[in-house]
Amino acid sequence: MSDIQEATNQLLDVNLHENQRSVPVTEESGTKEESEHLHVTIGATVPTGFEQTAADEIREKLGSSCKISKDRGKIYFDIPVESLAQVHCLRSVDNLFVVVEEFKDFQFKKTKEEALKDFEDLARKLPWSDPLKVWEVNTCFKKKKTKRKKINLNSSKEKIVNGQGDKLDERDNRGFIDNALDSRILDYYENPAIKEEISTLVGDDLASSKNETDEHSKEETEPQVLKFRVTCNRAGEKHCFTSNEAARDFGGAVQDHFKWKADMTNFDVEVLLNIHDNEMVVGIALTEESLHRRNITHFGPTTLRSTLAYGMLRLCAPQPTDIIVDPMCGTGAIPIEGATEWSNCYHIAGDNSPLAVKRAANNISSLLTKSQVKEGKSCWGLPIDAVQWDSCNLPLRTGSVDIIVTDMPFGKRMGSKKRNWNLYPACLREMSRVCRPGTGRAVLLTQDKKCFAKALSGMGHVWRKVHTVWVNIGGLHAAVYLLKRTPQAFVHCSEQDGQRGTPW
Ligand SMILES: C[S@@+](CC[C@H](N)C(=O)[O-])C[C@H]1O[C@@H](n2cnc3c(N)ncnc32)[C@H](O)[C@@H]1O
Repeated sequence: MSDIQEATNQLLDVNLHENQRSVPVTEESGTKEESEHLHVTIGATVPTGFEQTAADEIREKLGSSCKISKDRGKIYFDIPVESLAQVHCLRSVDNLFVVVEEFKDFQFKKTKEEALKDFEDLARKLPWSDPLKVWEVNTCFKKKKTKRKKINLNSSKEKIVNGQGDKLDERDNRGFIDNALDSRILDYYENPAIKEEISTLVGDDLASSKNETDEHSKEETEPQVLKFRVTCNRAGEKHCFTSNEAARDFGGAVQDHFKWKADMTNFDVEVLLNIHDNEMVVGIALTEESLHRRNITHFGPTTLRSTLAYGMLRLCAPQPTDIIVDPMCGTGAIPIEGATEWSNCYHIAGDNSPLAVKRAANNISSLLTKSQVKEGKSCWGLPIDAVQWDSCNLPLRTGSVDIIVTDMPFGKRMGSKKRNWNLYPACLREMSRVCRPGTGRAVLLTQDKKCFAKALSGMGHVWRKVHTVWVNIGGLHAAVYLLKRTPQAFVHCSEQDGQRGTPW
């Protein structure tokens, strides 16, 4: 059992037992003992294209098989509530939610009025009880954007009561704003391109700020009421309502049902309404902040999300003692994810930009400090180095590298398409030199597929393309190529010309 696994199990033991004391027992849900054996369906968003990788990780770490939704970038799996902490340790998932109900073929009515009336009726009929218990257990594992109040589940029907609230202080509020800003900057790059309408609405009057000051003073004296919002993600052409209208009307009915208070920004419960054509899933969010925000503190213009970095690394199946190189590492997202998850390998991060190398080095330092603080002891470090180099002329011996994983300049935000025509063939050639013939592999991400295909076409003797994963990077249709190094030995250009080659 790994250290992480062991620590997770210990945390789970403590947290679950603490929580089970406060998990409300509802009229319809039975005894506390029953809640200990609760099984629920978890939904997870993952980098598009890497659904299967996430499914493999979940099978491996939790023993659960996954259903991959036709709504790309989402997977579903069943777990006992005891496994919730381990779910938060998964490396390939971005956001988590507990499924309240899934409708495989929801018959949306033809007129807007009727369709919205169905949303209102739905709120009363859904089986909320078990998902809400999971939501409450989950508060211990959730990485928070801001310190939240301890809340009472206050349900009109389900009588979920109790707990005392702490007042949110000013500093925490500021933290929330900073984080929200940070999220916006990052999401510009990371926003999935699936044509999807997203609305987080519960109706103007429900979320009215007019009452906010009054409510604030009341909060100090009155028992806390749960705050919520509804977020609707809708994809598909045939709906006669917008995501905005669905969130508003469904949100109104949720409020009536539970007597919760609508709050768009400082909410305790986020109810999700995911609609894709005729498929609809109602869920409760279990993550406030995407789990891909884990390693990086010093961001660059094209920082890759850690979940995608994990997916790329997994594609080439690292083995203990492997030397893994990212020759164009930017802020180091790939090698840093590698060093934390495959710590029995050695990772080298390099870039030709001094600023990028500095950022990568800072990210490595921050991570080391974080783990020292967490573990309360000095740490021997991570198996990683950061170097400034030119990826077309690497200071590495021929055939010394097992795996190359890199995110190449797309030629949009980073570099230019014109420069890629020289860069891509030159670095593919250099990668073939340093990569071990016969066993070496490379996983390369690019959106400049035309240029990549052209560069690769002249290198069939050293690289064999075995697999392509199509991904979505900030709305750009990109490809992750898995290449295998053929057994053919590398021949220096100069040797071909009868001269002496590079000293490496
Ligand atoms: C798409 S970015 C990589 C982003 C990185 N994955 C991250 O998470 O920050 C491509 C990187 O390639 C680097 N680069 C471009 N040409 C290079 C070269 N000839 N040698 C080394 N690095 C190069 C750029 O400086 C840039 O940091």
